[in-house]
Amino acid sequence: MLNSDAISLHLNPALEIVQFEGDRNFKGILENIENIVKNSSVPVIIKETGCGISKKTCEKLLNVGVKYIDISGFGGTNFIEIENLRRTDLDFTNIYGWGIPTAKCIIDCRSISKDFTLIGSGGIKTGEDIAKAIILGSDMTAIAGEVLRYLIHGGYKFAEDYLKSLIYQTKMIMLLLGVKNIEELKKVEYKIFGKLKDIS
Ligand SMILES: Cc1cc2nc3c(=O)[nH]c(=O)nc-3n(C[C@H](O)[C@H](O)[C@H](O)COP(=O)(O)O)c2cc1C
Repeated sequence: MLNSDAISLHLNPALEIVQFEGDRNFKGILENIENIVKNSSVPVIIKETGCGISKKTCEKLLNVGVKYIDISGFGGTNFIEIENLRRTDLDFTNIYGWGIPTAKCIIDCRSISKDFTLIGSGGIKTGEDIAKAIILGSDMTAIAGEVLRYLIHGGYKFAEDYLKSLIYQTKMIMLLLGVKNIEELKKVEYKIFGKLKDIS
């Protein structure tokens, strides 16, 4: 009705479970997604919200025809923490660490197929984060929390300047890597070490 260019369906079970007034009815979700994807005239993005899409979930989504996935991994805005701070009856502090780190989601989901658009998000803050997300297998990245932080603490111009420096930084990194465009950036070789290597 609004002539949207695309629809984004958010998967946020962790948030809904911790949220006091959350929606706990998860029955038939995959069938619903399949229906929407098959009947939508515009692209349908399936997105997590900070806990990450696993390899297994990605496989299921691709099998029902999904072509756009925003993995929204762990490492940025933490909705378990946000919802826990909103309620006082139960305590969920011990599961603040729940989720699959963004980098692992990107590598795992991309390893299944090259034939879908992967949006790498969750904790993206700098040009270096953007470049890394693309090198690991994203087609594009997305930011939520960090832009809002600039907006809240410094206003519209502050947030705009942040975005401008982000674009500049990303281009700078691309120049330093000797790549001309995003397609070339995707082909840059990388090495995994530290915690990410341990969990891979
Ligand atoms: C203030 C705020 C509101 C958000 N609202 C929603 C929401 O209503 N539903 C949802 O599924 N995700 C929501 N998100 C999740 C984001 O889309 C994103 O997946 C998540 O914040 C991880 O990205 P980030 O680390 O860049 O913030 C929200 C995020 C923020 C910061």
